[in-house]
Amino acid sequence: MKHRNPLFPYVYRLGMPVFDRLFYRRYRREAMSHATGRLLMVGVGPGTDLLFVPDAVTSVAAVEPDAAMRRMAGALARRHGVDVDVVNGVGESIPFPDNSFDSVHVGLVLCSVDDVAATLNEIRRVLAPGGRLVVLEHVRGDGLMGRFQDLIAGPWSWLASGCEPNRRIVDAIAAAGFDVEGLRSIRRTLVPPPCTPHLLGAATIRR
Ligand SMILES: C[S@@+](CC[C@H](N)C(=O)[O-])C[C@H]1O[C@@H](n2cnc3c(N)ncnc32)[C@H](O)[C@@H]1O
Repeated sequence: MKHRNPLFPYVYRLGMPVFDRLFYRRYRREAMSHATGRLLMVGVGPGTDLLFVPDAVTSVAAVEPDAAMRRMAGALARRHGVDVDVVNGVGESIPFPDNSFDSVHVGLVLCSVDDVAATLNEIRRVLAPGGRLVVLEHVRGDGLMGRFQDLIAGPWSWLASGCEPNRRIVDAIAAAGFDVEGLRSIRRTLVPPPCTPHLLGAATIRR
């Protein structure tokens, strides 16, 4: 991780439940409803999405580079009886063999990885044929919002441990060889700028 703010995991852990209760929870649940079979969660953070694993999922693994976040996700999983192996690793080099998963979930994480293209290539590698990328991300907006995000990206990234709010995530997912028809843009949410609008849904590998 390029810009790591050591306080970020704790601030995020304390602050995010408020935003989850206000608005993220339903988006998290909707995104996770696309997961099936063997699921990998990249950048699982404190583990909130573990609460929304659907019945169609048969096993859960998670990759998370931050030790404090791994501890939080492990604790949450134990509290809620979710069987998950949270391993140290980054999206750019996923520590699992090819074709290991039926679904890979990215939740508010492609804004923060050092290399989006490398992460998406790794996700393709570990996805089995017919597998799907499950997405809930905040992305660069159009017009004034996008320009504001461009302007604030530097200092925001420093504060928020590498989060760059002006990434064109849907373009990156398409460029990595995924069919993005199953992704929809959520233009208006109660999530304050610069972390809005959002992209939600599932993308499959293009044949
Ligand atoms: C904004 S938090 C989101 C956490 C969680 N997915 C959620 O929805 O609450 C971003 C997460 O991405 C992780 N992260 C940062 N760089 C990463 C990388 N290169 N690969 C995987 N995860 C990364 C951070 O440690 C952090 O847990």
